[in-house]
Amino acid sequence: MACSKAVQRSAVLLQNSTGFENYVGKRASSWWGAVQMGPPDVILGVTEAFKRDTNPKKINLGVGAYRDDNGKPFVLPSVRKAETRLAEKQLDKEYSPISGTAEFCKHSILLALGSDSKHVADGLNATVQGISGTGALRVGGAFLASFFPGAKEIYLPTPSWGNHGPIFRHSGMNVKSYKYYDPSTCGFDSKGALDDLSKIPENSIVLLHACAHNPTGVDPRPEQWSEISAVMKKRKLFPFFDMAYQGFASGDVAKDAFAVRAFLKDGHQIALAQSFAKNMGLYGERAGAFSLICSDKEEAARTMSQIKILIRPMYSNPPIHGARLVTEILSDEALHKQWLGDVKLMADRIISVRTKLQDNLKKLGSSRNWQHITDQIGMFCFTGMNQQQCERLTKEFSVYLTKDGRISMAGVTSKNVDYLAEAIHTVTK
Ligand code: LMR
Repeated sequence: MACSKAVQRSAVLLQNSTGFENYVGKRASSWWGAVQMGPPDVILGVTEAFKRDTNPKKINLGVGAYRDDNGKPFVLPSVRKAETRLAEKQLDKEYSPISGTAEFCKHSILLALGSDSKHVADGLNATVQGISGTGALRVGGAFLASFFPGAKEIYLPTPSWGNHGPIFRHSGMNVKSYKYYDPSTCGFDSKGALDDLSKIPENSIVLLHACAHNPTGVDPRPEQWSEISAVMKKRKLFPFFDMAYQGFASGDVAKDAFAVRAFLKDGHQIALAQSFAKNMGLYGERAGAFSLICSDKEEAARTMSQIKILIRPMYSNPPIHGARLVTEILSDEALHKQWLGDVKLMADRIISVRTKLQDNLKKLGSSRNWQHITDQIGMFCFTGMNQQQCERLTKEFSVYLTKDGRISMAGVTSKNVDYLAEAIHTVTK
């Protein structure tokens, strides 16, 4: 009886209420009665919709996860080998240190900065394992929100990965933007970016995608990186690099780390988030790293101590399996070499389907200029299709993609590229 009265009361309050009364009324029947349904994730929600579709021709070009030429998830042969070796070692399942193992951290930062890195040799890096790239960014966000001496403002390129804004807002920072992509060329808006960067207030943080910019696939050329570095130095802007795709852009891990290494040569102190999801295919293992490059060893030790204090209440310490795989691969010369071949194989397949898609669109008589499909690099192509065209692709052809026109080239295969080209041609006529 009491309960049904409460329900009636909620119903009345729902009809003519302020938000607070609504909350109080509904609370009488459940603690969570006032919780509203949230929207699906803009990227991961695409996979959920794809899975529900029964069309045998369906294609998932939403999430950036590598597929082989049969459209199947790909476990890298080097990773398989590392897994066998780990199994043979019969390791224990003890807690990891808060920062991840020292070996994992050392190999991660050496991969980013180069095996001959003077910064690493001099002990200037404070590196911790992250829960993949997202977790590394989130730890970085927490550190900057607590300790960055300037404004708690981070400037993201427009557009940027859909999760960047939420990660930094969640960390307690103000998120702003700078120009990056030019829709008229589907390329880098160098002038717009430099203009905007030169106006950002001094002592702000700027997020840079180290390579294979997500979602556009548009990277600055080396000389354009030099200009960005010079403007940021002049304006006293702090660079936070997100390097989620090292090796995936060009197939060469050193080439893809160009910007990070060039900024260090130019004398910047940087923050760096790394991910092993894409370049080792370790999507579910959540292995990544966050690093700060400091001015001396003692400063590195101090910042490291604070990063650990931030991590402890968030997730205590990171998962061990993925980090062990990464360590096994990067610490063994032969396995490391094999892995570099695996990365190149993935990057090359993506480069080859870019050409196929572009050729097919030309063959079908598309009057659009699709040059950007092969100019852009990495996992994504920012097609230039508008929301309506994206929706038609999904509705009429069961081709799933994010509404901003981004397609994950990793989902394109020699078997579905004809169908995809026809679908894109039809909706862009
Ligand atoms: C993507 O952009 O598709 C990937 O980085 C996966 C993700 O978590 O969004």
